[in-house]
Amino acid sequence: MSGHTPRETWWKTRSVYQIYPRSFRDANGDGVGDLAGITAGLRAVKALGAGIVWLSPIFRSPMVDNGYDMSGYREIDPLFGTMADFEALLAEAKRLDLKVVLDIALNHTSIDHPWFQAALADPGGPYRDYYIWRDKPNNWQSIFGGPAWSKPEGDSAYYLHLFDKTQADLNWENPAVRNEIYGAMRFWLDKGVSGFRLDVVTVISKPPGLPDAPDPRPMPLYHMLAGGPRLHEWLRDMRREVFDRYDCVAIGEGPGLNPERAAAIVNPADPMLHMIYHFDFVDHTGSRQGEDWDRVWFKSVFDRWDKGIGPDGWNSCVVGNHDLRRFIARFGDPKAETKLVAKALAASYILQRATPFIYQGDELGLGDTIITKVEELDDVWAKTTYRLAKSKGNSEAESLAKAVAMTRDHARTPYPWTPEGGFGAGKPWLKPTPNRGGVDLATQQGDEHSAWAFCHGLLELRTKDPETWVFGAYEDLLPEHESLFVYRRGTHGLVCVNLSSEPWPLPEPIVALLAERSCIFTSGDITTTQMGPWSTQVWA
Ligand code: GLC
Repeated sequence: MSGHTPRETWWKTRSVYQIYPRSFRDANGDGVGDLAGITAGLRAVKALGAGIVWLSPIFRSPMVDNGYDMSGYREIDPLFGTMADFEALLAEAKRLDLKVVLDIALNHTSIDHPWFQAALADPGGPYRDYYIWRDKPNNWQSIFGGPAWSKPEGDSAYYLHLFDKTQADLNWENPAVRNEIYGAMRFWLDKGVSGFRLDVVTVISKPPGLPDAPDPRPMPLYHMLAGGPRLHEWLRDMRREVFDRYDCVAIGEGPGLNPERAAAIVNPADPMLHMIYHFDFVDHTGSRQGEDWDRVWFKSVFDRWDKGIGPDGWNSCVVGNHDLRRFIARFGDPKAETKLVAKALAASYILQRATPFIYQGDELGLGDTIITKVEELDDVWAKTTYRLAKSKGNSEAESLAKAVAMTRDHARTPYPWTPEGGFGAGKPWLKPTPNRGGVDLATQQGDEHSAWAFCHGLLELRTKDPETWVFGAYEDLLPEHESLFVYRRGTHGLVCVNLSSEPWPLPEPIVALLAERSCIFTSGDITTTQMGPWSTQVWA
């Protein structure tokens, strides 16, 4: 990555498909997805048209946070298989010309990690300083709820954990920690992976002295910590020690960053990382669900990030992932036809001037799941939310409702391969999302009008005409319109989406633009002057 980033690189022209390994495909019938299942499923990813596969964590872990609590950076967790299984996965990816990107949690490790265990066993030894200790905690609250400090039994000090109490923050001030992480990344790059998604990388540099936060609640704290004093220095260091040595991509998870701060990190003249993905679409409160969400705001996020990152910079476009309720449940309309909504939303993000990230199932229009009892929750964050709600005197029903409204389990259910499920022979670890009719891969692959087929078509456009659909300048033509999303790409690309269940006439200047172009795709009820409910048209 040294010096200027070339305009045309594979991580710009290819699209990303995110796999949640526990839930993609279970080859050995134990109810949990695994590497052999992923290997078998890569053909489907290729058929969709993605060119990069991002695997959520597969390293050794006690799985309190489903792998984001790592206890071995150079090992495959036995739940997912062996190193040989991983090598087979890489070989199949190579055969299909898919790049593989791994997820690494480098802000924290599990307390089961041998480093943390050594820190506990020998407080005077070298591993103590791998973590962040204080005799008296400050006022920081953990992202998942409760204090961000815990004292191990029999220990004299508290350790910092911005997330669950089993996820101890690493002390990045310690050069030994940095070298361990760089070494682990090189280990996987040497094996043939093509890069990393760097989990919560924006918070690795803590403010000196760890002062109390003016507002210690999780989200304001995140904002306070994002982009800490030594972040740029360490990212440059990481680039020199790792990324510059390989043809790889480094994607930073960017909670708390605004476009200006992100632009500094992906600045093409001095890139620390290749892409950042932002949190503007992240909404754990549930307030933007159902039909009543703010379309003008939704559109403004794309525009703000496109302008903020600048004409020479590069964005990623992440609208759904394993940390959110389903995309379609946050930005759809439960009363409208799922297929139409899925297509309209796909056209809203896949053709942005950015590398699109498709989260497994979003290409099918997979919706939220149904959770009726606390035992059906798996997400550590949701379980903490439930427990805290109960401890504050909420009823069972109220506490469950709070957890169901935010739980990340909605996005983590087994991938629907067939109408019956087809995830694997065993009982799945998480109850599947009910199939509400046609929301499965087999059905949609056999239907040229499906959401999957539409998504495939959009990805193909990026491959066939990158000048327009990858690199073409972005312009929102109706930023103030309450429902229509109409944007231009390059000189001739034009996308019109109706993000509502009401029909809308196309304004005259847009009709004039269509007259000069040819239609590539449509979905729903459209004419050249009228957009029916959740309809889409793509022109060039
Ligand atoms: C990131 C991951 C999330 C995890 C958290 C802590 O936000 O995406 O799943 O819980 O970091 O590692």
